Amino acid sequence: MSTFDYNIDAKELDIVLYPDPILSSISEEVQNFNGELKDMAENMLLTMYKAPGIGLAAPQVGEKLRFFVLDVDFEREQTTSSNTEKEFELKNLKSQVFINPVITPKSSETIKYQEGCLSLPGIYDNVIRPKEIVVDYFDLNGNKKQMEADGLLSICIQHETDHLDGIMFIDRLSQLKKNFYKKKFLKQKRK
Ligand code: CO
Repeated sequence: MSTFDYNIDAKELDIVLYPDPILSSISEEVQNFNGELKDMAENMLLTMYKAPGIGLAAPQVGEKLRFFVLDVDFEREQTTSSNTEKEFELKNLKSQVFINPVITPKSSETIKYQEGCLSLPGIYDNVIRPKEIVVDYFDLNGNKKQMEADGLLSICIQHETDHLDGIMFIDRLSQLKKNFYKKKFLKQKRK
């Protein structure tokens, strides 16, 4: 597990919004486990925490690469600030980076959860996914890893891995619902 130090030299990235074509593209496997990849992961973590969100995939910041970052249980506390702008302090960070992930469901049991996405702000709906999974992946040092996941962690890993295959969570809803949310999002985006 990699721990992210929030105060390092990371920079906030722009999040790509639906329906940008990169969000429906299949990303490429990571080949080079170098400093550039590490910097990118740190920038993505900073961007995710600031949004705030619990997961962010590389194509969501314009990189067609098969990796994502996540942290499903950090705490976000509003702190008093001298100016009128709200300031937040992030605590208990447990960031993780998953590179070239491959998911295998552990059973036919499913879980329904109301999902959202930083590339589709304001849109939320229930998605049904396998409940428990095994994920094979690489860490930032290129070490092969395996993890079992259940609940929110499982959902988040599946949602982010979908991004690497060009799948948005609304693609997992009925065509009727998908069209409804697409229209709703494009309408609110124009405002
Ligand atoms: Co998403």
